[in-house]
Parts: sequence; structure tokens; C-alpha cells
Amino acid sequence: MSAVIIDGKKIASEVKSELKIRIGSLKERNIIPQLAAVLVGENPASIQYVRMKTKACAKIGITSKTITLPNSISEKELLSVINDLNKDNDIHGILVQLPLPPHINQLKVNMAVDWAKDVDGFHPANLGRLLLGKPNFIPATPLGILELLNRSGNPPVGKHTVILGRGDLVGRPFSVLVSLKDKKANSTITLCHSATPDISVFTKQGDILICAMGKPESITGGMIKQGAVVIDAGTSAIDDPNSKKGYRIAGDVDFKSAVEVAGYITPVPGGVGPMTIAMVLANTVTAAEKLSGRYNG
Ligand code: GUN
Repeated sequence: MSAVIIDGKKIASEVKSELKIRIGSLKERNIIPQLAAVLVGENPASIQYVRMKTKACAKIGITSKTITLPNSISEKELLSVINDLNKDNDIHGILVQLPLPPHINQLKVNMAVDWAKDVDGFHPANLGRLLLGKPNFIPATPLGILELLNRSGNPPVGKHTVILGRGDLVGRPFSVLVSLKDKKANSTITLCHSATPDISVFTKQGDILICAMGKPESITGGMIKQGAVVIDAGTSAIDDPNSKKGYRIAGDVDFKSAVEVAGYITPVPGGVGPMTIAMVLANTVTAAEKLSGRYNG
């Protein structure tokens, strides 16, 4: 039997349609939500991600601007750019695309962004609130995965969710998010990582399997519980002579074998990626609502 394919693009467009209504209400009050994206250096993947985010903003009526800075920028200069954005009342959301060059301290940068405009949810105040079960801004990919599960008819409540990878951007924050006492979460979790001796012992027990290791096509059908919901958050660039660019983006899941065992599965591309973008937009709209004082969250 073949799994149902979860269409991330379709679910993301539902989210974006809902956002348009909220943006309309803001505009009636002369508030135009605006996102500032800070891009340091010329990493092709980062350029592409920022472009996709700003394009998605334009489509639903969010204004955006991209501040492009050279790889050689000093940490002090970058912090000063962020400080200017913090002070600009027309900007509601700020994101600094990662990774940053090695001479820049990422934690300092995350801490410099006003947590009320932190649409990536990377500021320690926002991550701390998530840990306390009182979230403010939740990182976009974990939030997108949670929405994908709920909106595809696979709520994690009471299920065993096995998460592969404890990275700062996806695995670790998702493990906290999906285990919160909340009607959309409430899952039992297992978090596997590089020191887990044999991940297949755990992957075979997951009603829901979240793959966020960055090990391309390493999770095969034989490692998956029959009928499981498999979410692939992997985005590794691998050589592909058949592609124009010479590479393609691969997930962590070996789709061909996994689709025969899973009950539901996300493709790469077209699964988690569009939801991440939709959640950056959602966080920007929420930031505009909160900053404009209508919402006391
Ligand atoms: N780089 C990879 N994922 C992300 C993300 O979610 N936000 C930012 N700012 N950079 C990233």
C-alpha cells in the first residue's frame, strides 16, 4: 500500500488565505505589516530562502525589505543594523537568515533582535517562553510541522512522536512544542540524536516520525512503523548531474521505500518547506497585531 502524500503547498495556501483576512483588518487600521530580512554574505541557499520568504510576503500583502550585507561585515556593524530595525516603527518582523559567517556570534545576534519582532522565535526570551509552555513566537519550522500534522488530520495528541535530530532550528524546539500540554500537541516524545546507538529501535516505534537530521535519504521503509506519519524536514543539497544546477535538495527520508510503509508522508520539496514560509508570514502578522496594541497575548 502507498501512503497518503501530505501536500505542504496546499496546506500552506490555506494558512495564507487565513492570514489575508487578518492583514485586511490591519490595513483597515492603516497598519501595513512589514518584514525585514537580513542577509549576510552570498550563500546561495540563504539567498534563495530569503527570496522565497519576501516573495510570499508580497503575495499576501505584507511589505518586506531585504538588507543585504557583505560577508566581511563586523559583528558590531551587524548589531547596529539590527538595532536600527528594532527602532523602526514601520517594521514589525525581523529575521536574520542563518547561517552567519563564523566571525559573528549567532547567539549575540539572536539576542539583539527585539523579541517582540523576533518572527524566527530564536531570541532566548521566546525560546524560554516555549520551554515554559507560554509561547510567544515559535520557530517557523517546528510550528509549521505542528500545523501540518493537525491540518492533515494527524493530530499528535496521545501519540508517540519520534524526533530524529536535536538541532536548534527544528528537532529540539519541536520536541518541546509537540510535548506541550495543548490541544494541538500533547504528544509523548522520543528525541534521537548522534549519540543514539541504533535509531531504528526507536523509529520503528514512532506513530509520528519527524526527520530533521540532515542525513540525505537515510531513513528507509524498513525503519518505519507500518502506517506511521512521516514528516521530512531534511534539506541537504546533493550532487545531481541530471539537474540544471548540478545539485538537488534531498530530504532525510528515502521516499521510494518509505511511501510503501508509511500511512502519511511529506515530499521534499513541497512538504515542510512551504509551511516554514507560511509560519514566518503568520508570525509577522501576529507581530504587527501585537505591536499595534490590539492584542494582549
Ligand atoms: N536557516 C535555516 N533555517 C532558517 C530559519 O528558519 N530561519 C533563519 N533565519 N535562518 C534559517
